[in-house]
Amino acid sequence: MGLHRFLALFSAFGFISVHAASEELQKGNADPCAVIGGKKWVAPADVRACFSSFKVDPAIKSNILEVVSKTLAFHTSVNYEIRAPEPFSQFVHEDLFKDIARITETKYPSDYDLHVDVSRTLKRLNDGHCVWINACYDSLFLNFLPIPLTLLTEKDGSQNVHIVPEAFQVASAEFADEISVWQDALPGKLKGKLESLSGAKVLSINGRPPFDAVNANALITGSFQGLGTRQNAFFSSYTRSTTNFSYSMGNFAQQSLPLADSVNLVIQRVNQTKPDVITLPYRSRINPVTVPFNSSATYRANNCVAVDGTNGVDLHASGLAPSAAAKFQQAPASPSKKHLLNVMLDTTPLSDVVLPPGLQPTAPALNGSFPAGTFYLQKDGKTGILALGSFSGADFDVMQSGLLEGLLTLKEIGATQLIVDVTNNGGGFICIAHWLHRIIIGPKSTTVPQAGLDTKARDGPLARQIVQQITDKNLDPDQELLYNPLNWNNANGIQFPATDNWLLPPVNTQINGHADAFSQRLGQECQPFTATPPDVALFDPSKVVIVSNGRCASSCSLFSITMSKEDGVKTVVVGGKKDVQQEYCGTVGGQSTDYSTIDTEIKTAQLKNSSLAPPDLLVNGVQGITWRLGFAIDAPTQPEEWQDHPADLNLPLTPDLVNNPVAIWETVAAKLLV
Ligand SMILES: *[C@@H]1O[C@H](CO)[C@@H](O)[C@H](O)[C@H]1NC(C)=O
Ligand SMILES: *[C@@H]1O[C@H](CO)[C@@H](O)[C@H](O)[C@H]1NC(C)=O
Ligand SMILES: *[C@@H]1O[C@H](CO)[C@@H](O)[C@H](O)[C@H]1NC(C)=O
Ligand SMILES: *[C@@H]1O[C@H](CO)[C@@H](O)[C@H](O)[C@H]1NC(C)=O
Ligand SMILES: *[C@@H]1O[C@H](CO)[C@@H](O)[C@H](O)[C@H]1NC(C)=O
Repeated sequence: MGLHRFLALFSAFGFISVHAASEELQKGNADPCAVIGGKKWVAPADVRACFSSFKVDPAIKSNILEVVSKTLAFHTSVNYEIRAPEPFSQFVHEDLFKDIARITETKYPSDYDLHVDVSRTLKRLNDGHCVWINACYDSLFLNFLPIPLTLLTEKDGSQNVHIVPEAFQVASAEFADEISVWQDALPGKLKGKLESLSGAKVLSINGRPPFDAVNANALITGSFQGLGTRQNAFFSSYTRSTTNFSYSMGNFAQQSLPLADSVNLVIQRVNQTKPDVITLPYRSRINPVTVPFNSSATYRANNCVAVDGTNGVDLHASGLAPSAAAKFQQAPASPSKKHLLNVMLDTTPLSDVVLPPGLQPTAPALNGSFPAGTFYLQKDGKTGILALGSFSGADFDVMQSGLLEGLLTLKEIGATQLIVDVTNNGGGFICIAHWLHRIIIGPKSTTVPQAGLDTKARDGPLARQIVQQITDKNLDPDQELLYNPLNWNNANGIQFPATDNWLLPPVNTQINGHADAFSQRLGQECQPFTATPPDVALFDPSKVVIVSNGRCASSCSLFSITMSKEDGVKTVVVGGKKDVQQEYCGTVGGQSTDYSTIDTEIKTAQLKNSSLAPPDLLVNGVQGITWRLGFAIDAPTQPEEWQDHPADLNLPLTPDLVNNPVAIWETVAAKLLV
């Protein structure tokens, strides 16, 4: 404890001194992982010292690269992502096979450096479905600052980065056991006055204009094609979580790797005329899901090797185990196993920080509300709200009936217009997205029989063999496999017969100069729904608005895109930079899955010995993929993934609006629903 405390204080003076302290430890041959073992809060330099103390094991390196590259054969988007069309060509241009060849040849100082390169390489796709995550490093500790940032618009229209007004309230509640370290780190007369930083204008970050830091983060944060959406990741935001509204710190105040030791800011505090120069240390807090360790050996054994769910299973030998990817899905865990998902992955887990009480909606949640979705009526008596943090996270049936009951309740008590707030909604059940579109809009050509997007799967040789094995040998009598023809309909909505290899013949295509092959066009699989939808529209589309920070992905994109492009529903992004186009969603996909699920398909189809099959993964890793890709609404042969999704309104944030859902909804209603 004494040493830990010493390091914590030292870290206040920044990178150099902390690094030196850690080197001392290493010279003394202390176990660098024992230094952080068993502790809740540590210095990021000490996390790095532990991470960096392991050399690359060539067998592990080649295992990871082989699993990733053979899994990518099932990812629909590999060749598209070599160069995405406009407006994303500037942001998505990654040739993963060249990257893997480069990584194979590269020598790394440590296994951690290798991980950072593999992780960032996949993140450069800016595709939240196709992400490499290794729980040995990603979010083992979360690296925090107590001052989340936001982008505020002044009366004259200029925009400035600010520390959020609620910063101290959030930090003192969430980091009560660590706040004194930050209080003590403030210089001179500011010592102990962390609260006085709340709301301050940020004039520079590490000696550079704030947007240099915002844009540097946009290059490594991944997940969304649009630059504006990745810029927004730097800033704090809120999400409807399963218990109430949670608070996302943003990439400035929360990192999933120990990337920074401290930050130097020049700030202009509220009502002060002179700027202040401050340096605050980042502090790393152990993730609640990290398995405790007390040495290098126990750290590796407990957190870094494959666990149940890392690899798939032969369903003939054992039951369906939940994939290890669930931990990193940007949706709360769901008890429903049989419903298809389209959901984003991220190296950062869902936030467990709570939106401060003053910012939580206080109106009672109306009938129909369920864990990740709540209904409210605004004070005007006519604006209904659906705050929907995820398209999964509850029992499928509870969500389906809750959405209908909630919208009917709103109408019954007088709502004539609707705001759907999908801030940070990372997706979930595909058929819930279709259901919500269908019940709001009513039965029409855009909702019946298809309320989502037609799709295609990748048609590689191993995928074809899986279908062939299933059909020839009846290997999936319980219809549990993705490749079972009985699970899919053709473009006319006709279910494939049990013996039909639906991947034959493949649709051969050239994409960015590479030969590729896809399945025939697949129609919808959600209707008839398992509940009965009303036979009239619940709201007029001109009276519906979808609001988010742009970070609406996957099934959330399927919902927003069909509502906007087919039915004219307006979309709002909150708080974006005004000269950067704001996309109302991204990471569309069609259906997502991961290596472990594909491995179950391969093993159950008795094809694990194929040279095309990935070997079992040896580390505690996850590789996500897009398994089906939705066709575009306005360009029917192209994927919707790289179509433009510009928001109708980029709502400027002011101190009274930031992270205040009720105030945002009032403003949106006043601007777009009069
Ligand atoms: C939010 O949820 C947490 C966890 O269930 C609970 O402790 C807290 O009181 C809730 N806060 C509000 C404002 O409802
Ligand atoms: C700043 O000054 C205004 C006007 O005097 C006052 O209302 C506000 O409370 C002050 N804010 C702070 C943080 O001192
Ligand atoms: C370290 O952890 C291992 C298991 O994780 C445990 O068996 C051992 O007793 C621990 N040692 C100390 C000194 O705490
Ligand atoms: C909400 O549900 C309760 C219990 O079922 C019922 O008594 C009440 O009338 C419902 N309220 C509305 C507005 O539908
Ligand atoms: C894979 O194993 C099966 C029997 O389990 C065998 O029939 C087949 O020839 C093997 N294939 C290869 C490529 O080794």
